[in-house]
Amino acid sequence: MDKIKWGIVGTGRIAHKFAEALNGCEEAELCAVASRSKEKADAFAEESGSREAYGSYEDFAEHSDAEAVYIATPMASHFNDAMLCLEHGKNVLCEKTVTLNSAQLEILLKTADENGLFFMEAMWMKCRPVYLKAKEWAMSGRIGDIRFIKADFSNTVPYDRNDRLFRPDCGGGALLDLAVYPVTLAADFLGNEPSEIISNAHIKDGIDLSNTIIMRYPDGSYAAADSGFELTLRNNAVISGTKGMIVFGDGFFYANDITLYDENRRPVECFSCKDRINGYEYEIGEFCRCLSHGLTNSTLVPRSGTVSVMRMLDECRRQWGLKFPQE
Ligand SMILES: NC(=O)c1ccc[n+]([C@@H]2O[C@H](COP(=O)([O-])OP(=O)(O)OC[C@H]3O[C@@H](n4cnc5c(N)ncnc54)[C@H](OP(=O)(O)O)[C@@H]3O)[C@@H](O)[C@H]2O)c1
Repeated sequence: MDKIKWGIVGTGRIAHKFAEALNGCEEAELCAVASRSKEKADAFAEESGSREAYGSYEDFAEHSDAEAVYIATPMASHFNDAMLCLEHGKNVLCEKTVTLNSAQLEILLKTADENGLFFMEAMWMKCRPVYLKAKEWAMSGRIGDIRFIKADFSNTVPYDRNDRLFRPDCGGGALLDLAVYPVTLAADFLGNEPSEIISNAHIKDGIDLSNTIIMRYPDGSYAAADSGFELTLRNNAVISGTKGMIVFGDGFFYANDITLYDENRRPVECFSCKDRINGYEYEIGEFCRCLSHGLTNSTLVPRSGTVSVMRMLDECRRQWGLKFPQE
């Protein structure tokens, strides 16, 4: 099988982890890295073993023969960076949240379709074995009807208005950085069409430091998602049903273990899976599988889920009266 040639745009924290995973995947080959600075690109290329290093994203898009691109820049840059790559015929795996809002995402998807290209959100959680085990248990009726999902994600970060996490112009805030995980989990198990969203947030200087989101569904089921930079939460997730519950290990979106309980809270089955590399290999595998089979949509990370979650996050911000400067 021919290896899929990859480029990475952005040389920050997650780009390094992704490069490590890519180098361990036999279906993929890291061939180019792109930075806004040639020095950073050269350093990253040397560290990661990439044969090409570009000192601008435009240069990369125009000259690299990478067919797949991983966009690892801050949220507010995703739209322009992904668009640049799509316009140059590259298939895109874009970090979360894929855009600042659903309107931007719709434009990217239209562009991907017009150019016959594959686009997938880098929602690695959905590709992980533990997550797929939860889906298997839920879909085979092991916990009965799902009635409630509770998921939270906090990452305590000291306030620094220069950090991208706290900058409105970078798409900062806990909503896009953290809440996207619990909301994605809830939408995937309860559905993309909640009948109501109720949300509140602690807002400071144009971003949310923490937020709480309730998603209600037409059948009476609901989900509660909490997240924030100023909270200490367990970062766990529970999917509760009429006949039992599924409990992810702490750090639910990267957890390596998960437990199924019966309706009397007795554990009935545990599943554990150690990552072969660092956990990002599963999304790479899914992307390569889709691309090599000529699929236009991922089965594990379908576009419909990404669009729906972006709409829900839009709705939260609408309720808070919060807009990014670009909007
Ligand atoms: N999947 C996950 O587990 C995970 C974890 C963390 C973050 N993320 C996502 O990955 C993305 C990047 O996060 P990160 O933590 O890697 O960020 P980071 O360390 O700040 O790196 C972002 C990189 O983007 C480039 N960039 C382009 N425009 C920029 C700007 N205006 N300001 C700063 N950097 C800019 C920079 O690379 P150059 O200077 O080389 O151009 C920078 O190194 C975000 O969307 C985040 O939500 C995902």
